[in-house]
Amino acid sequence: MQVIILKNAEEIGDYVAGVILAGVDDGSLKVLGVATGSSPLPVYEALERRRTPELSSISAFALDEYVGLPYSHAESYHAVIDREVTKRLRLDPARVHVPDGASDDLPQACLDYEEAIRQAGGVDLQILGIGGSGHIGFNEPTSSFASRTRIKTLTPETRADNARFFDTPDQVPLHCMTQGLGTILAARRVVLVAQGRQKAAAVAAAVEGPLTAMCPGSALQLHPDATIVVDEQAAADLRLSDYYRFVFDNRPAFQR
Ligand code: GLP
Repeated sequence: MQVIILKNAEEIGDYVAGVILAGVDDGSLKVLGVATGSSPLPVYEALERRRTPELSSISAFALDEYVGLPYSHAESYHAVIDREVTKRLRLDPARVHVPDGASDDLPQACLDYEEAIRQAGGVDLQILGIGGSGHIGFNEPTSSFASRTRIKTLTPETRADNARFFDTPDQVPLHCMTQGLGTILAARRVVLVAQGRQKAAAVAAAVEGPLTAMCPGSALQLHPDATIVVDEQAAADLRLSDYYRFVFDNRPAFQR
């Protein structure tokens, strides 16, 4: 894994936006995996600032969606992705896909989502955040590293974390549809972003801890091209932070 420690959210946004635009420019990025949550917002804001018309040709696949929340609800991931990604980046809405958590045949909708990703040629670059429990997408602790898109039950911790988006905690749905860890690992490149002290333990467990289903983010250790971009606070529990800085400062010219 490549670990990049930057000063703040704005630097993280600029850095990851640069990686995405370089991929679009050289033709290697045609399908972008997008994530909800506050962590990737600086990336979308940086892309919006750069006003890049070439993004209109890419396709996007979101990681997850609540089950049983109407898409008209402002906190459904359909609504969030439309607001924060499709509109800001001026993507073609017909090319932006979000799991169909409102389907009346949820198992089939999971299979259909996997098939849609496959038909698009697979995800070229997946943006990820990480939850306090170490979850990526909505793959809660004990998720199989081989899992594909499926229905999961949210942990009480995740429901409590996400209660801030709802009027009352009991409005947070119990279930979600999420790409599996196997689906995420199939992306050609993954870039995880995290900011703030509250993410430090999860980042350290994912990067330096054992491979364990108890920290789903640790599955990224199996990915051949995973980059973790964090601010100083989110890097606070990393034992090898000085080494990561040294590696980044001395990266070969072709990686600059
Ligand atoms: C939700 C999303 C995840 C996201 C996580 C962290 O659970 N399903 O994809 O990574 O929240 O969110 P935040 O970035 O707001 O801390």
